[in-house]
Amino acid sequence: MALREIRKKDDEILSKVCKEVKAFDNKLAILLDDLYDTMKKNNGVGLAAPQVGILKRVAVIDIGEGKIELVNPVITKTEGSQVGSEGCLSVPGVYGEVERPFAVTVSAYDRNGEKIEISGTELLARALCHEIEHLDGHLFLEKVIRFEE
Ligand code: CO
Repeated sequence: MALREIRKKDDEILSKVCKEVKAFDNKLAILLDDLYDTMKKNNGVGLAAPQVGILKRVAVIDIGEGKIELVNPVITKTEGSQVGSEGCLSVPGVYGEVERPFAVTVSAYDRNGEKIEISGTELLARALCHEIEHLDGHLFLEKVIRFEE
């Protein structure tokens, strides 16, 4: 286990587009483990590779219902909408209301290169959208309707 440094808002790496993972190797496994440990240590529910300075399409999520590992994730379906509070480990102490789909389906790969499909509503749908946007260089701040005090 290794904790990695979380890059903060003004770090330009957070605005870059990540590259697809092609090698499902030990390096990927270590990155996934480190992302999870770093997320947990910082009480987050999601963390994407660019947040630790790695420009690969990799993210982890755990909203309290178990670990989800996403490699090369793509949103394949969305339904409805929800408005709710959102935050980000790269933007500590800042929370704001963001509109997201109510339900999301994501196609991705696991650490072994097996295709997986994840569907979620409410907080999980929100986390899936938030983390996948990190992989394209976007922060939730761009979508905040109203910042919270
Ligand atoms: Co974030």
